[in-house]
Amino acid sequence: MKLGVNVDHVATLRQARGTTYPAPLEAARLCEKAGADGITIHLREDRRHIQDADVREFRRALKVPLNLEMANSPEIVEIAVAVKPAEVCLVPERRQELTTEGGLDAAGQFDALKPSIAKLKAAGIVVSLFIEPSVRQLDAAVALGAPVVELHTGKYCDLAGAAQADELRRLAEAAEYGHRLGLRINAGHGLNYDNLPAFRQAVPHLEVLNIGHSIVARAVLVGMEQAVREMKDLLA
Ligand code: PXP
Repeated sequence: MKLGVNVDHVATLRQARGTTYPAPLEAARLCEKAGADGITIHLREDRRHIQDADVREFRRALKVPLNLEMANSPEIVEIAVAVKPAEVCLVPERRQELTTEGGLDAAGQFDALKPSIAKLKAAGIVVSLFIEPSVRQLDAAVALGAPVVELHTGKYCDLAGAAQADELRRLAEAAEYGHRLGLRINAGHGLNYDNLPAFRQAVPHLEVLNIGHSIVARAVLVGMEQAVREMKDLLA
């Protein structure tokens, strides 16, 4: 199973102070060094973390494939077509959300998605749809001509006990069904060092897991000692 690392929150830290550091690309290079199979960034319409220049820079400099998360908006579709990341993952976006909430309604937004997906595919980009684990959404992904889906694991990660077990079953059934339809199955959102093992064990046919927040959060802690030592050395 492959790991795609989402480095959006390195950009969140940069944007918080309007500095040039920490550079998301530098973080991505370290991810590559550590074995990441791909890098994901989300160019949001509100540009709260990743900026347009980051997308161009990542496309030029990365060795592993770039997966660009984005809303189905004409402006962002144009950017994707110009930059040509290896993969685009279409996600829903709401202005006030803390992070992507819920999956893309591929079935409900069929007519709006169809031309954008065709445009992205014509540019040679592999299109993935970030959807809830439901038959309706998986059928819509196939009808839209998307070769890949990313199953939204957010609910699984937020729930506990029997409700979490139910959601895990739903994810496993969706992966099985999607695989039978010929879709490639990715997954992500909210996965962390604690909830990953059970998810991995229960859900079949997974190709790529896209994980961001928990890895960036862990990196802050495992890197803190060295960061303080370096500053102390300057004071010595
Ligand atoms: N996959 C998609 C489609 C997402 O929108 C996100 C969050 O940007 C992720 C994966 C990664 O989620 P997390 O940061 O919670 O690991």
